[in-house]
Amino acid sequence: MSDTKTAAVDAGQSLLPTYGRFPIALVKGEGSYLWDDQGKRYLDFMSGIAVTNLGHAPRKVKEALVKQLDELWHVSNLFRIPNQEDAAKLITDNSCGDAVFFSNSGAEANEAAFKLARRYNQKVLNNGRYEIITFEQSFHGRTLATLTATGQEKVKEGFAPLPEGFKYIPINDISAVEAAISDKTAAIMLEMVQAEGGILMADPQFVKDLAQLCEKNGILLIVDEIQTGMGRTGKLFAYEHYGIEPDIFTLAKGLGSGFPVGAAVAKEKLREAFGSGSHGSTFGGTPIATAVVKATIEEIVGEKLPQRAAEAGEYLISELRSKLAGNSFVKEVRGLGLIVGIECAEPVGSIITAAQEQGLLVITAGPNVIRLLPNLLVTNEEIDSAVATLTELLAGYNR
Ligand SMILES: Cc1ncc(COP(=O)(O)O)c(C=O)c1O
Repeated sequence: MSDTKTAAVDAGQSLLPTYGRFPIALVKGEGSYLWDDQGKRYLDFMSGIAVTNLGHAPRKVKEALVKQLDELWHVSNLFRIPNQEDAAKLITDNSCGDAVFFSNSGAEANEAAFKLARRYNQKVLNNGRYEIITFEQSFHGRTLATLTATGQEKVKEGFAPLPEGFKYIPINDISAVEAAISDKTAAIMLEMVQAEGGILMADPQFVKDLAQLCEKNGILLIVDEIQTGMGRTGKLFAYEHYGIEPDIFTLAKGLGSGFPVGAAVAKEKLREAFGSGSHGSTFGGTPIATAVVKATIEEIVGEKLPQRAAEAGEYLISELRSKLAGNSFVKEVRGLGLIVGIECAEPVGSIITAAQEQGLLVITAGPNVIRLLPNLLVTNEEIDSAVATLTELLAGYNR
């Protein structure tokens, strides 16, 4: 290897530059804290973007993982996988869903949802419908179909031609939905809190009207719970806040506590649409992944963590609102459970890096919103500390 090549490799140049990375290398995590390779400690209020909902290296999940590593890593989905069956039952027992398809990521879970919706219409109902309606500012992933479903132009640039059959409309506008529906509409997909879009909440009346409209027109309702699911919003799944039941919902992120896994969860009527050979994934729902899913759900449900997230979220939001009141740079503090945004008057990138310097990890949601995603076990003292850091930093922008 040439000297220039060695130096480039050392600087991470062997990676394609898809991420604008912070110059921090995190090497250890425990509970709410992370440490970098210089030994500096950070209070983690981003949780790997809503992944480590149980904090870093949660004991029971780790024990389940280590036990499974000793027993069996991988077998093909051509065999029964008891952990997968158990994990699926835990999901269906604790949700409105009846049957689960496991994948390895959120985008793949959404791909499965699109395929299931189309196939149900085309093979079970035989009506030829294929169109999926999604919402502006939504985010559904980075594969070709999921970036097409995403209601943000920036993720689509340079990837044409995009798959057909996706349409976007403004959220919280039921007449826009009515206008967009056609005899080709197979499904409508939404996030209850548009997270990447800027912590934008679906309006409860809109969601009720949407569910009714779907029911009336035989359109499947899909809820993307990839960021909002697994207790984060104060319920196990965010759709529970709205008194509706989606036909399909998708999970990933917090489902595996940091182990890569996703899932599409469907109502009974959809079962026959995904018959043998219709869809698949080599790694979807391996013994290891689903051992982790089992332990994660047992912990979240058994320890009533959604309730805890609701209480901690209320505390976090009320503290932020009271400490930031009067700061004209702050436009709004909003959120649901522990998915919280501070909308500011201008881009917040410099605040994110300043917080890192102070030992606090937070992330953006769109250019002007600081997004806070602590783990569901976060303590009030940890919340106080994060709020104090942010209050002080944001005071510097008050004018
Ligand atoms: C709501 C939502 N859907 C889908 C995805 C894509 O998930 P993944 O990155 O695991 O493919 C994300 C990721 O941020 C998300 O927040």
